Amino acid sequence: MLGKKMEKALNDQITWEFYSGYVYLSMSAWFQSQGLPGFANWMEVQNQEEVFHATKMFRYVLESGGTVELGAIAKPKAAWKKPLDAFQDALAHEQGVTARINALVDLAQKEKDHATNNFLQWFVSEQVEEEAGVSDIISKLKLVGDGGALFMLDKDLSTRVFTPPVGA
Ligand code: FEO
Repeated sequence: MLGKKMEKALNDQITWEFYSGYVYLSMSAWFQSQGLPGFANWMEVQNQEEVFHATKMFRYVLESGGTVELGAIAKPKAAWKKPLDAFQDALAHEQGVTARINALVDLAQKEKDHATNNFLQWFVSEQVEEEAGVSDIISKLKLVGDGGALFMLDKDLSTRVFTPPVGA
């Protein structure tokens, strides 16, 4: 059974994961408007990842006998000066998510909620991948600059598809 503090914190995180999806969907729309459909695809898949994260947590709260209360989702930023700026925002966003997940783990440990602590370890590992994936694209964007090579990278990113994690 979830404690009230843990339940509230998980509910806040469910909303934050949906907000994360909104952030990436907004970036996807902007990339599409810039004539970069591969980047737009990458961001749309990122939205699917976030919905997956939110739903995984949603199910956990219910399975643990808790109550889900979804919060309001804030309006995300809609425009950037260049692709690199959007990805730098994405990295800052993911670093923020990592801090939030770590705070949830701290709370689970403080509350001696071993089940939730165990559940959250999946998210701890996932955040390492989330940050690494965005950092990798930032490195590539710095290499290609704003020239024609951007279209090669766009083609590369068009191949990303959403694959639910094994055993999730
Ligand atoms: Fe759900 Fe990108 O963290």
